[in-house]
Amino acid sequence: MHRRTVSTVVAATAALALSACSEQPTAVTSPAIAANRNTSVIDSSSPRFIRQLAAQRGIVAFPRSPRVRPALVRLGQALAFDKILSGNRDIACTTCHLPAFETGDGNSLAVGVGGVGLGTNRTGPFIARNAPPLFNLGTMRHLFWDGRVEIGEHGHFQTPAGRQVTPAMTRVFEFGPLSAQGMFPVTARAEMRGPGNELAAIPDNDNTAIWAALMRRLGKIPKYREMFREAYPGTRFKDMTFAYASNAMAGFFVSKLTFTNSPWDRFLDGNDRAMSPQQLDGARTFLTIKCSICHTGATFSDDQFHDVAVAQFGPGEGNGPSTRDDFGRMNVTGDPTDLYRFRTSPLRNVELTAPYGHDGAFATLRGFVEHYSQSDQALLNYDPSQLESALQSTVLPTAPTILAQRDTLLNGVVLTPDVVDKLVAYMQALTDPAARDLSDLVPDRVPSHIPVDHPHPSSAQPRPRP
Ligand code: HEC
Ligand code: HEC
Repeated sequence: MHRRTVSTVVAATAALALSACSEQPTAVTSPAIAANRNTSVIDSSSPRFIRQLAAQRGIVAFPRSPRVRPALVRLGQALAFDKILSGNRDIACTTCHLPAFETGDGNSLAVGVGGVGLGTNRTGPFIARNAPPLFNLGTMRHLFWDGRVEIGEHGHFQTPAGRQVTPAMTRVFEFGPLSAQGMFPVTARAEMRGPGNELAAIPDNDNTAIWAALMRRLGKIPKYREMFREAYPGTRFKDMTFAYASNAMAGFFVSKLTFTNSPWDRFLDGNDRAMSPQQLDGARTFLTIKCSICHTGATFSDDQFHDVAVAQFGPGEGNGPSTRDDFGRMNVTGDPTDLYRFRTSPLRNVELTAPYGHDGAFATLRGFVEHYSQSDQALLNYDPSQLESALQSTVLPTAPTILAQRDTLLNGVVLTPDVVDKLVAYMQALTDPAARDLSDLVPDRVPSHIPVDHPHPSSAQPRPRP
């Protein structure tokens, strides 16, 4: 019985893959479906069938989160909202990862040092990439769009700081790469360090000194010393490195930003009615066409890197003749086959986190999904009017090189408007209702007494779109 069901699922999968992805959807579909009909033992729209497909594609329930000690969560929350971590005490982690904007900032590209305003009202010099949401990151093996903070097969951390992340530090990391990630925004001049302060005076490659200077700042505030001691019982504050701070922020994210109660989760858990019929249909489509080859696992990311034909614009990562290009994963590995590859985006709560892509190239979820249809043409015809006006004229003419590297899985993918509708409906089923309002996460005050931003509700409106 088991065997027979599996082969049926495979047959139906092939049929659907053709119907949704072929150049001529209708022409090639009918024989495949006809062939499939003879062998069909379960209805391909039945919940049971869809659960089987999900299991086959490796899309599983999100693992139960580790319990995080409350004192660690409190410390991590304070640090994430405290501008004291920036050189000029004017930018917190949550200046770019705002609860009011679903832990992103609502902009295509983030604005760091020199910016004014919050969320979509923020203006100033752009940095190279989109500020991604911080949902369900506790199980990711690669962080950042290019995965430059990562953990290898044998639990070995790799980060841009090399050996400056010492074994003593990695022993502090309780939440994998996420615990290491918070060590880096504070060292970046454009993100937090800025010019004209004691942190800015430290040479760029001396992360150790930057981290030590930050711990000196924090150590001058008795409340922080107390909170660190409570979060790490038995360790003296003077023996703590910035790894303790970064790990605490990770604890806060894991504890408060892991969402596992979406309609999809309830469906996987056995509730046949958790999703609408259209979402169910969308799930079947997502699981049978190529989407779920890359967007797999509990997070909907294979944790790997692909070029999916996203346009390049903005200040870039200093790459290419214009220096405004962004070579993506190749900047980490040096391997030319990694050119223009970015990490497969996790998709939980994706409905809430516009704009989309490593540089926020798409203003809407529908826009990103539509671009997978004939993505070569879509890239050549990319519409920059969906970007902030200052970015519209900065799109690089690199479409041919991006397409030369495009993942071959996207060859021949054509999505009809009806298929796009279903896919978007399914992605809306990945939203945990509790993620819609994160305002409870904003603390009233932080130990430095630097005022905490409470973005005015008007700035939490989505940017008006043309
Ligand atoms: C100036 C805006 C800005 C600030 C401030 C900032 N971030 Fe980010 N954050 C970003 C951007 C942009 C990226 C993506 C960068 C990249 O991939 O190269 C990012 C990526 C991340 C990621 C990786 C997410 C993923 O899916 O891989 C985490 C985690 C994160 N930031 C946490 C923090 C923490 C913790 C702080 C404070 C110590 C912080 N950020 C400060 C803009 C910011
Ligand atoms: C070849 C692997 C691959 C396939 C196939 C694929 N994706 Fe993606 N997806 C990615 C990568 C990589 C990114 C990030 C690309 C970037 O930013 O440059 C991404 C980004 C996205 C995003 C934007 C998320 C965000 O937070 O910015 C959405 C939505 C999405 N994919 C949905 C889909 C759907 C729906 C399908 C099927 C039609 C699909 N993907 C097929 C690899 C893939």
